[in-house]
Amino acid sequence: MAAGQLALELPLELPAMELAPEWKDQQRLWGHAFHPMCSYLASFPAALTHAFIARYSRPGDVVLDPFSGRGTTALQACAEGRIGVGNDLNPFAHLLTAAKVQPATKAEAVTRLAQLRLGWNAVSGEWLTLGARVAADPGGAGSMVPRAGSGGAASTPESVPVEVALAFHPRTLAQLLYVRTMLKLDDRTDRFLAAAITGILHGKSASYLSVLMPNTFSMAPRYVRDFAARTDFVSPERDVFDGLGRKLDRLYRQPPPRTEGLALLGDARDVAERARAGLRAMGRPERARLVVTSPPYLRVVKYGYYNWLRTWFLGFDAREIDATLDDAHHREPYLAFLRDSLAGLRPILTDDAVVVLVIGDVETDRGRKIRGGVGLAERVWEAAAEPEGYKLAGVALDDVAANRKMTKLWGDEAGQATKTDRILVLGATEAGRRRALSGAAMDVDWTWPPRALRPL
Ligand SMILES: C[S@@+](CC[C@H](N)C(=O)[O-])C[C@H]1O[C@@H](n2cnc3c(N)ncnc32)[C@H](O)[C@@H]1O
Repeated sequence: MAAGQLALELPLELPAMELAPEWKDQQRLWGHAFHPMCSYLASFPAALTHAFIARYSRPGDVVLDPFSGRGTTALQACAEGRIGVGNDLNPFAHLLTAAKVQPATKAEAVTRLAQLRLGWNAVSGEWLTLGARVAADPGGAGSMVPRAGSGGAASTPESVPVEVALAFHPRTLAQLLYVRTMLKLDDRTDRFLAAAITGILHGKSASYLSVLMPNTFSMAPRYVRDFAARTDFVSPERDVFDGLGRKLDRLYRQPPPRTEGLALLGDARDVAERARAGLRAMGRPERARLVVTSPPYLRVVKYGYYNWLRTWFLGFDAREIDATLDDAHHREPYLAFLRDSLAGLRPILTDDAVVVLVIGDVETDRGRKIRGGVGLAERVWEAAAEPEGYKLAGVALDDVAANRKMTKLWGDEAGQATKTDRILVLGATEAGRRRALSGAAMDVDWTWPPRALRPL
């Protein structure tokens, strides 16, 4: 880059990639039926991952996403016969990814739901009393409940936050308290059910357990208190077991992927060692041939705070989540973080690996300007990828999808929160770069579910 350009901070021109963004032409819910299990901020569509999975991996290959979010890349990879590996530092994202790549069978999920329903019927009296007590005095001395996952066994009780109590009808709250206490998140089937419940916890239609807030994210707790007081809000009664049963019907519209993947909880910077150990334990290849990921955006999303009702249900601490994640960086620390992440990836990549980074060009954050957001992809190349020896195949644009996504999140005011997503396509080495370039023009089959998976 010319010195003058650096001083003016003009975006560096990077070569455009000859890769048609056909994912924009697909239906909104294109891909496996597990994808929409729960909404997740700043997630990309499954169709986008397919554009790269189809071109740059074959059945049996390992496809990795070090910032997996709700597990889109890893699930779509498994659904296409690849070994999808998703890693995230957010325990909520990890739960969603694990639920999708190591799911329960339909029979397991339905049987466990029936068991929970029977259990509830046997003891509902005491839980209804508890629910009524919490609803009558939210946050008060009577609102102490067993901890999530404690199974009702002796454990230090915890209080229910006022805003949680406000969000649900007392009977729905009692059922949620029961289910939350019984589900063990380290059990595959229970984890699947817990993830499915987070997807129906709040939203504006009859399939959701609370109508207090939209499905996309939790409203600020203070706003919830003020709104409830101002409008005398009373949530309609919704049956958790019926709602979950209907959600399972939707999720199992397609059978779970036949290929199992791997979900890891941890920092992207040290993903290689953990992924390798996990893959070795599964008897799978230990290197990834493709990475499709979107790293944290620049100062946009607080995954704990915007999911506080879901994290409460799961027994996670929203504040702790936000304190650990790398979603609040300013530009320079962000670039250093990405450089470390790309360095950390290297040991687990095959020599001809293709690395696809979807980078949000963030210009404004809910109306406020963010300095240094524009031209971020170019800066990521120059300050993080090139110094780590990656080879640039080119940049693909994803403007329409980005616009739709962010407008939905924040409303009109923030219609331009992310102006354009840019997709940096890199090779781990020159061999990877050439593979990226030669695959770009390949025809991709968009039939879903696929007619047949190609054999190895
Ligand atoms: C833009 S989102 C990815 C969304 C994902 N592509 C999807 O479709 O759901 C970025 C993710 O990075 C995660 N994250 C933030 N800091 C991290 C770190 N140091 N290591 C791993 N993951 C991190 C966040 O929890 C978030 O899920």
